[in-house]
Amino acid sequence: MLLVDTHAHLDQEEFNEDRGEVIARALAAGVEQIVCVAVSAASSEVAISLAGQWPGIFASVGIHPNHCAQAGEGDWERVLALVGQPKVVALGETGLDRHWNYSPFEMQQDYFDRHLRLMQQTGLPIIIHTRESEADVMAMLREARSRAPLHGVMHSFVGDAAMAAECLELGMHISFAGMVTFKKSQPLRDVAATIPAERLLVETDSPYLSPHPLRGKRNEPAHVVHTLSCLAEARGCTPAELAAVTTANARLLFGLESQN
Ligand code: NI
Repeated sequence: MLLVDTHAHLDQEEFNEDRGEVIARALAAGVEQIVCVAVSAASSEVAISLAGQWPGIFASVGIHPNHCAQAGEGDWERVLALVGQPKVVALGETGLDRHWNYSPFEMQQDYFDRHLRLMQQTGLPIIIHTRESEADVMAMLREARSRAPLHGVMHSFVGDAAMAAECLELGMHISFAGMVTFKKSQPLRDVAATIPAERLLVETDSPYLSPHPLRGKRNEPAHVVHTLSCLAEARGCTPAELAAVTTANARLLFGLESQN
């Protein structure tokens, strides 16, 4: 069973002590490829350097909505300069977050818009974070779709079936993280069961949000197996079947084959 963790923050300091072991455990668990997702210009640079050190690691470049207030003069230009570097396979993470309020909302919208336009210029898929801002994210996706096609992923999806259906119609993939495994998440598992297999992805969002039964511990890419098994059960298929299709989806969306 081969898996891709489509969203891990491997550059974060939580992994500084044992990053090599974390990656070795991922490989041992069948997680052959990992998209290391950036949150700032500096983190984008680290993600690229990690991708240079391990064959199965790929990088995204971008500025997270919760980090855009800290972005310095020239940080966006630093991100732009990294597009086209080897193993840069996505833009983000970007999106909108009304939960933390770390960055003014209009600033988040401005950065989200820049990432959307960059996706349409470069063809790189976009990784979208949505927290307590579903209507705002959908409004910006509709506007962007009116200009040109969209491709990318609604990461750690927690929306309802109607939102999932519209995201699919707009051309996006849907990715589930540990949240879908929590006991109280039956409604989300019901939504997951409605997603066409060819648009489904799995991720950890490590080091955050460990899946059941590891909840509360630091998360790492090897744990994506638990999320996969839970989704397979919700969809009435085997983990091996779901691994095959989600891995093929991830490789196609992020172009991982051609980058290896
Ligand atoms: Ni993330």
